[in-house]
Amino acid sequence: MAGTGAAGGGLGAVDDGVTALACSMPKAELHLHIEGALEPDLAFALARRNRISLPWADEAALTAAKDFQDLQSFLDLYYACAAVLRTPEDFRDLMLAYLRRAAADGVVHAEIFFDPQTHTERGVAYPVVLEGLREGMALGERELGVTSGLILCFLRHLTEAQGFLALDAALGSLDLIDGFGLDSGERGNPPGKFQRLFERCRALGKPVVAHAAEEGPPSYITEALDLLKVRRIDHGVRAVEDPAVLARLAREGIALTVCPLSNLRLRVFPHMAAHTLPGLLAAGVRATINSDDPAYFGGYLNDNIRAVQRAFDFPPRTWYQLARNSFEAAFAPEARRLQWIAALDAHFRAAGADPQGFPR
Ligand code: ADE
Ligand code: ZN
Repeated sequence: MAGTGAAGGGLGAVDDGVTALACSMPKAELHLHIEGALEPDLAFALARRNRISLPWADEAALTAAKDFQDLQSFLDLYYACAAVLRTPEDFRDLMLAYLRRAAADGVVHAEIFFDPQTHTERGVAYPVVLEGLREGMALGERELGVTSGLILCFLRHLTEAQGFLALDAALGSLDLIDGFGLDSGERGNPPGKFQRLFERCRALGKPVVAHAAEEGPPSYITEALDLLKVRRIDHGVRAVEDPAVLARLAREGIALTVCPLSNLRLRVFPHMAAHTLPGLLAAGVRATINSDDPAYFGGYLNDNIRAVQRAFDFPPRTWYQLARNSFEAAFAPEARRLQWIAALDAHFRAAGADPQGFPR
């Protein structure tokens, strides 16, 4: 396979064999908002089912509205579309639709964010949301063999007191939650605002993560690590602006869940060639590739892989590393992580690229 030992760099023609290898390899998706997987056709179908009228004439008009200036302009649309989700069946159908798309992209495990406050604030009870999502996850595992976990995200534009109320609602069924996260508008809402809430989440024995340095400064990564004690950073792509933060991420083996098409569509970077993913990898940071909100940002996991490969022409060893990072950073028992990595190794060997020969 051409490109096996190449440094990569994006100047030559992209090796389609490498793209095919990266798209077909088994991988975990660790940064996916289930509300962000609501495709226009499902949004309109659910609106009809629930007799809700959406503020767009049709699917094409909704698709046309997805021209974002920044994170907040996306969030306004994303929260508006979530209004069609009302019953357990709606959440189940949304979950199953995502898992089918993910499975088609070689995803064998997904750790999925959901925003309960978005739903409870408009009168949809927490158990309705949880029941539907969990049913979809069970069906996905049975039908597709994809395992999944659920990460409850607090909305950072709300107060910490409101976060405590959301946590209270979850306490009765804590065994159905695999971790806690922090999302929504980053600017002006530093991780430290939620220090006591995250202390409580950790005391419940769950891993915690937070969006940081997507739009906000690298210091938000430091806050998320020191004050929230997160196990992974979601996005973190602005870490390269602070060499000390970058070196710390590498030294401590903190995974970043990077979402390249999201960063493009939210104008974090003007074009893919300006993305900091190569710089993060070169610094030894444990980066992973994810789709964030695929229905809004132009694609699922393999669409992200294809866009990255077109820009950077990575060699197979980089794709191996990215997939391996996704398994190593998953909140799953070690035995399962080792099984996934063994399957990844076998996949590369079958394609004639032996991971044992890749430089460490
Ligand atoms: N909620 C859904 N997608 C998000 C993102 N990319 N950043 C912050 N909050 C989000
Ligand atoms: Zn996100």
